[in-house]
Amino acid sequence: MHAKATACANIALVKYWGKRDAALNLPAAPSVSLTLEALTTTAEVTFVSDGADFLAINGEPASAAATARVSRWLDLVRARAGIDHRAHIATTANFPVASGLASSASAFAALAVASARAAGLDLEDGELSALARRGSGSAARSIFGGVVKMDAGERKDGTDAIATQVIDREAARAWGLRMVIAVVGGGATKAIGSTEAMERTRDTSPYYEAFTRAAGADTEAMVAAIHARDLHAVGRIAEASALAMHASAMAARPGILYFQPPTVALIARVRTLREAGISAYFTIDAGPHVKVLTTAADAAEVAAAMAAIDGVSAVMVSEPGGPARILE
Ligand code: PMV
Repeated sequence: MHAKATACANIALVKYWGKRDAALNLPAAPSVSLTLEALTTTAEVTFVSDGADFLAINGEPASAAATARVSRWLDLVRARAGIDHRAHIATTANFPVASGLASSASAFAALAVASARAAGLDLEDGELSALARRGSGSAARSIFGGVVKMDAGERKDGTDAIATQVIDREAARAWGLRMVIAVVGGGATKAIGSTEAMERTRDTSPYYEAFTRAAGADTEAMVAAIHARDLHAVGRIAEASALAMHASAMAARPGILYFQPPTVALIARVRTLREAGISAYFTIDAGPHVKVLTTAADAAEVAAAMAAIDGVSAVMVSEPGGPARILE
């Protein structure tokens, strides 16, 4: 009753920002993401016959809140497997957690694969993705490699809110996609978590519905641009989706602002790079960091330009990543 799995983080090119069902973690609109090889989480799960659930993150016992969240999620696995064992869980990320670098996506994807195996369940990718989604909406996408689409669906039970692959890792690599991640301010813990921020945006932002409507059209256009290997169209839609997501969050009451001064400086630099003929398109999640979509040919120049911005503490370059998988 033990298994170890690994999963890559993913960064959305069309953002998920808002739930149609908070209990089932169903998105209000579809999204599209790129899975990233350089940002990974491994999860080790051992079911034991007594005691309590125990969670360690990067070698340290997790907070009571984090442990309770994983414990509630594990109840889904236990119910499905017909067991009531407690679990010892250790997750290890190779990048800063809970700071807007998509750590919950890679963590819950790795946890879904490891805990299903440890519980003796033989689940298909779609089922693993639905399980991961219950832990974190974006985690549904990290089960798959390459470029991934998440549908919002319409059914109340969420069985049509599923993630599917658009192109696989090899196709994304052959195209030459790269993502440069500029970490702002040392990767400090984010001010407000994505779930609370999404709920507040939905409940109070006059721009929430506009964002949700745009996400549907953006997803269709994004998938077409991916199939056409049209990086300029992909980048244009990605920037628009990220700014629309942040605009809707900023317009919540009280307003939610993830940007810090280096965030804005990075956006401006991406634009001047582009004017100079470099392929570079920004996106930003629930944190101050800026991720830049670029090509293998331009990645080194983009990374150097990002590293030169005041307040940037680290820069990583990632290739497209593969699917979540069992390690042992
Ligand atoms: O999966 P969550 O609940 O952490 O939400 C992720 C939200 C964003 O990262 C901001 C956007 C996205 O689609 O990943």
